[in-house]
Amino acid sequence: MAGSVRRAAVFLAVCLAARAAAAIQDGLLPNGNFEQAPPKSQLNGTRVMGRYAIPHWEISGFVEYIGSGQKQGDMLLPVPEGAYAVRLGNEASIQQRIALTRGAHYSITFSAARTCAQTEQLNVTVAPESDILPIQTVYTSSGWDSYSWAFEATGSVVSFIVHNPGVSEDAACGPLIDLFAIRALPPPKSSNSKDRSYPHPPPSGRANEAPKTDRIPGTDNLLKNGDFEEGPYIFRNTPWGVLVPPMDEDDYSPLSPWMVLSSTKSVKYVDAPHHVVPRGARAVELVSGVETALVQDVATVPGRPYRLEFSAGDAGDGCAGAMTVQAYAGRGSVRVPYQSQGKGGHTRGALEFTAAANQTRVVFVSMAYNMKGDGTLCGPVVDDVSLVCTRKHAARRLLL
Ligand SMILES: *[C@@H]1O[C@H](CO)[C@@H](O)[C@H](O)[C@H]1NC(C)=O
Ligand SMILES: *[C@@H]1O[C@H](CO)[C@@H](O)[C@H](O)[C@H]1NC(C)=O
Ligand SMILES: *[C@@H]1O[C@H](CO)[C@@H](O)[C@H](O)[C@H]1NC(C)=O
Repeated sequence: MAGSVRRAAVFLAVCLAARAAAAIQDGLLPNGNFEQAPPKSQLNGTRVMGRYAIPHWEISGFVEYIGSGQKQGDMLLPVPEGAYAVRLGNEASIQQRIALTRGAHYSITFSAARTCAQTEQLNVTVAPESDILPIQTVYTSSGWDSYSWAFEATGSVVSFIVHNPGVSEDAACGPLIDLFAIRALPPPKSSNSKDRSYPHPPPSGRANEAPKTDRIPGTDNLLKNGDFEEGPYIFRNTPWGVLVPPMDEDDYSPLSPWMVLSSTKSVKYVDAPHHVVPRGARAVELVSGVETALVQDVATVPGRPYRLEFSAGDAGDGCAGAMTVQAYAGRGSVRVPYQSQGKGGHTRGALEFTAAANQTRVVFVSMAYNMKGDGTLCGPVVDDVSLVCTRKHAARRLLL
């Protein structure tokens, strides 16, 4: 009896070890920075010839292997990290098979730059999910931005595909891509709002992590991820944050359960090592003015009073000027002005409202367009958001 229990325990331990070894860890994908080069025999100039020439990747179509310092005409093609990146020509694609935990949600972070003065797009796919990410707006002076995208693993091995759907006249046009990372997201929709603890290992590549405690004892924040601590992977050595592109409402969100609603414009997810963040290690910078809304839907009781509170400020990234964050919830709204010196700081905003339905959408929008000295778009940061039912407290206090 004891022997079989021990044998079962050993068997279980072996299985868990095997499983841990198989599923990918948070961080860089295998050769996600393309520093492992294709063999010389597989290159014709910059063009990659063989389907499996780039270690850990499979390509199709016109794919180039670009070294830093390489020029296109007079223009230097910069590489965001290390010495190499990849360029996808018209209809070209690159893919990698990734071992994951079936049913779990993941976000992918990668860097991309456009190379010709025109609209470029990338189509990212993990079947059955597929989305077109717009990359025509540049939010950094380097020309590179990092993007995030989320999906659910429908199997224990998935194919992650990045495809350039463009059909430009110049075959050498097409986005440069580099630095692919993955991060497991907390399990989705534990719709019981009391359960805010995510059984999730501490993410790597983070600093200044604040202990996760409810600051106001006795209040239940009905919003999840109100401090934006759970989100896409940010590399230590990329100082420009990660864009969270707009999504359809039924898509997976890298900032779940927050969603980014817009036709083409993103928000920027910023980290404490490179930005001033009002609380914890992460926040969201609203970089696209009124064109983009950051929203979360919350279960509410019609007729009950609620109080929404949040921080609005600047990320200390040189984004100076008059800023305004507008928040909407139920039929109420509040405008919070903030005068930014671009050096970091924040103010608190609050909105009292009565729920009109059994679900309330909390919405944040930046009411102005802000720009840094280098001409790139920027905006106010939003962080530390809470929504509490105020009557529930009154009732609780009466009982005590
Ligand atoms: C390399 O590319 C050039 C120009 O596109 C082409 O003429 C040549 O045949 C290619 N060489 C090989 C070995 O494919
Ligand atoms: C995006 O890529 C997927 C997989 O390669 C493909 O099935 C889909 O048709 C592509 N979508 C567009 C709009 O090109
Ligand atoms: C919310 O209200 C709608 C209609 O007013 C109703 O159909 C739906 O079942 C309600 N949902 C919950 C969770 O109560």
